[in-house]
Amino acid sequence: MFTFVTLCITSLLFGSSYQQMEFQVCHLCVGSLQNGTAVGYFCASLSGRVEGRCCWRQQGERASIVGLDLSNCSLRHIEDLQEASTAVMIDLSSNPVINISDSVFQGFIELHYLRLPSTLQCPGGNASWEKVTSDGVVCLCEEQKDACHQDGNMSWNCPENSLCAPDGPGFTQCSCTGEYHGYKCLRENHRHRGARDHSQLCDHQIHKVWWCDIVHKV
Ligand SMILES: *[C@@H]1O[C@H](CO)[C@@H](O)[C@H](O)[C@H]1NC(C)=O
Ligand SMILES: *[C@@H]1O[C@H](CO)[C@@H](O)[C@H](O)[C@H]1NC(C)=O
Ligand SMILES: *[C@@H]1O[C@H](CO)[C@@H](O)[C@H](O)[C@H]1NC(C)=O
Ligand SMILES: *[C@@H]1O[C@H](CO)[C@@H](O)[C@H](O)[C@H]1NC(C)=O
Ligand SMILES: *[C@@H]1O[C@H](CO)[C@@H](O)[C@H](O)[C@H]1NC(C)=O
Repeated sequence: MFTFVTLCITSLLFGSSYQQMEFQVCHLCVGSLQNGTAVGYFCASLSGRVEGRCCWRQQGERASIVGLDLSNCSLRHIEDLQEASTAVMIDLSSNPVINISDSVFQGFIELHYLRLPSTLQCPGGNASWEKVTSDGVVCLCEEQKDACHQDGNMSWNCPENSLCAPDGPGFTQCSCTGEYHGYKCLRENHRHRGARDHSQLCDHQIHKVWWCDIVHKV
């Protein structure tokens, strides 16, 4: 009985802390998403739900973050925005941040509008965006390019025996096909059957390209 109660309490504690974890990025600073801002207009146009600095959109059963406004938050370091990886619009302007790693935006394939302090460059470089503008205060990165289909041409990133998938500004994922796997899909006849997560599937990252296996469910 005691063990059972302990288990219940433990799962309650972990359950609730997990809930809070899920929305942490929305509360990286005080205040809530304002109506008059770019992300605010976008959110209103989608009839999104505002929670802290985030805009959530409900699609069927799923709710996902589509907008994030962390402007004017006194942020010096921006290291983990993964919770907002579904965002279409992100505003990080008016923060004293000096540098930001490209890997912060890895996996952000929906991101099409990013405002940064003009001291920063667009992640993945200007070539990863259709339009880059700067007025000396804010740098605006618009319309992320698909690294797999540059100007209608297939990317050279992935070899023939693999499928290319975009993985955020400047990043791609090559999924090996057939019996191939590993770096450049050069190894044969070995599969990660029953692999549970991304790290087991994609075990090599070299120059912003992940090499992955496609798992056939058995
Ligand atoms: C933003 O707009 C919504 C709907 O138009 C309104 O209900 C809300 O009060 C506004 N919020 C602010 C902070 O102005
Ligand atoms: C930035 O935040 C400060 C205090 O948090 C506030 O006084 C100021 O008006 C804000 N600036 C903008 C442009 O929102
Ligand atoms: C930012 O710059 C500092 C000092 O130059 C460096 O130590 C740090 O690793 C950099 N961070 C990132 C994310 O590039
Ligand atoms: C990217 O474009 C912006 C805006 O045109 C420009 O200020 C910046 O120097 C460019 N960066 C590079 C590395 O070319
Ligand atoms: C795409 O392919 C066309 C025709 O082969 C070529 O002219 C063009 O330069 C290529 N574009 C890029 C970005 O490689």
